[in-house]
Amino acid sequence: MTEALLDEAGLVRWGRSLGEVAAREAVFVALSGPLGAGKTRLTQAACAGAGVSEAVTSPTYTLVHWYTGGRGPVAHADLYRIRDASELPGLGWEELETRPGAVFVEWAERAGDELPPDRWEIRFEFAAGGALRRVRVCVRGCAPPIPDPAVYSAAPEAPSC
Ligand SMILES: Nc1ncnc2c1ncn2[C@@H]1O[C@H](COP(=O)(O)OP(=O)(O)O)[C@@H](O)[C@H]1O
Ligand SMILES: [Mg+2]
Repeated sequence: MTEALLDEAGLVRWGRSLGEVAAREAVFVALSGPLGAGKTRLTQAACAGAGVSEAVTSPTYTLVHWYTGGRGPVAHADLYRIRDASELPGLGWEELETRPGAVFVEWAERAGDELPPDRWEIRFEFAAGGALRRVRVCVRGCAPPIPDPAVYSAAPEAPSC
């Protein structure tokens, strides 16, 4: 597990690098954290990194949006409206596992056991009175290494020299 404190600019830069890798390697990305924490903002940055040129809007009123990026397809799902995995069938969830592409899912914890075993997990918390976000990342199963958020940290450690 790795964690970092990110301001919005850092989160966007990290998100772009996530999108590049996720699109190339068709990674499933599970996002969790409170409303306003930055899950959509990160997904928008990841779509830019994946080469998506369309505007990426929150899919809160549908379940899944698919985008065609220069580096590969990207799906953006938001499970805010559902309670648990029993509501997933018929909402486009199955396609996330079968159709090739990167997948970014907000409120991913609501999918429970329906999450694929190989995935990146990214958890968000508010920090520093709201200006920063603490992100915690974890690679599960055989998902590829995740770009390190600490590289984009708002509070880099002082050089030791
Ligand atoms: N460090 C930060 N990282 C991400 N978003 C931030 C940060 N600081 C402020 N923001 C703002 O917080 C909001 C995050 O909203 P959003 O991404 O829609 O959250 P969520 O999808 O998690 O509900 C945006 O308005 C963004 O401009
Ligand atoms: Mg959102």
